[in-house]
Amino acid sequence: MIDKASNITIERKHSHVDICLNCDVAFNRKTTGLEQFHFEHNALPEIRFSDIDLSTSFLGRKIGAPLMISSMTGGYSEAAALNKHLAEAAERFGIPLGVGSMRQALENKAHRESFAVVRKYAPSIQIFANIGAPEIAKGLTDNDINILLDLLKADGLIVHLNAAQELFQPEGNTDFKNVLEQLSIISAKIPVPVIVKEVGCGISSSVARRLIEAGVKVIDVAGAGGISWQKVEEVRYTRQFGQDARFSIPALDELMDWGIPTAQCLLDISALKQEIPEYNAIEIIASGGIKSGIDIAKSLALGARLAASARYILKALHDGELETTLEAWLNDLRAVMFLTGAANIEQLRNKSLIIKT
Ligand SMILES: Cc1cc2nc3c(=O)[nH]c(=O)nc-3n(C[C@H](O)[C@H](O)[C@H](O)COP(=O)(O)O)c2cc1C
Repeated sequence: MIDKASNITIERKHSHVDICLNCDVAFNRKTTGLEQFHFEHNALPEIRFSDIDLSTSFLGRKIGAPLMISSMTGGYSEAAALNKHLAEAAERFGIPLGVGSMRQALENKAHRESFAVVRKYAPSIQIFANIGAPEIAKGLTDNDINILLDLLKADGLIVHLNAAQELFQPEGNTDFKNVLEQLSIISAKIPVPVIVKEVGCGISSSVARRLIEAGVKVIDVAGAGGISWQKVEEVRYTRQFGQDARFSIPALDELMDWGIPTAQCLLDISALKQEIPEYNAIEIIASGGIKSGIDIAKSLALGARLAASARYILKALHDGELETTLEAWLNDLRAVMFLTGAANIEQLRNKSLIIKT
């Protein structure tokens, strides 16, 4: 039997894909900040374009390029097809993949296959399980953790911090007490690394510091400048309840654009890593509005291990252009590497960016 909570979760995951594809949910005025930077041209690159190597490593394993497909979906029947296509592309490019929140897999056995399908079509890449902060705050049992990890033979557990999204969600859970304590318990207990991400409001250096102290190994900044999840949930709220005012108009305007731009998160967390050398092993993922190989290149030069993208990848998949889009992004990246004289990703990381005047 499927209960009411499970039905709401299915409706939510379904409408997230629909709204992200069909509505204007970009930040109103805020951008990622990446457009403020450019690389210095190197007229003497002293490398061959054909020798450029995009491979790098993530959490100790070789990957085909410094790009990840961000957590998106699962938990309803159509999600299995989306996850299958994302997994096939990730496997082809040898890049990591996150699945969407697996709360549904805990609530309802019927849709576990929509997550498990990714491992079937992507046997060799890193795949990450995903669960939200409110579920973590309640405390996951050992059985819950085993379900999340075993379904995917997961290489890590992503926990998403989505306070602004829950605040705007019609059925949102705003109990964010004890998240840090539970993260620390889970990080010590599970056999794979814990990755913490936002979903579009960014992670500050002080939050990064608390996460690292709690045992988190990877931070995905998911900063402002891509999707505003406040806007996505506001669309769902309006569809359900009409224009009933929850917030004043000036507050709504400001809250829709709430968050730290992606580039700012990267700058702040890189400064923190320089200040505290023991944090150097922590890997940073740049996400929130990543939409080209140039964005990927700038993210690496700002300190990220790799970049990740969700909405633009979903859109490309929907338009039947997923693989050609990924090819194009990786070609952009190769172009930047050629023009800066970086034969490999490590050399690209050491290139400095100039602020546009
Ligand atoms: C349709 C859709 C569903 C998403 N669902 C999840 C989710 O279940 N768990 C999660 O951590 N992030 C989820 N996200 C957020 C993304 O992983 C990402 O952090 C965010 O959208 C910002 O990246 P972007 O600007 O590249 O889209 C979802 C994104 C999209 C587009």
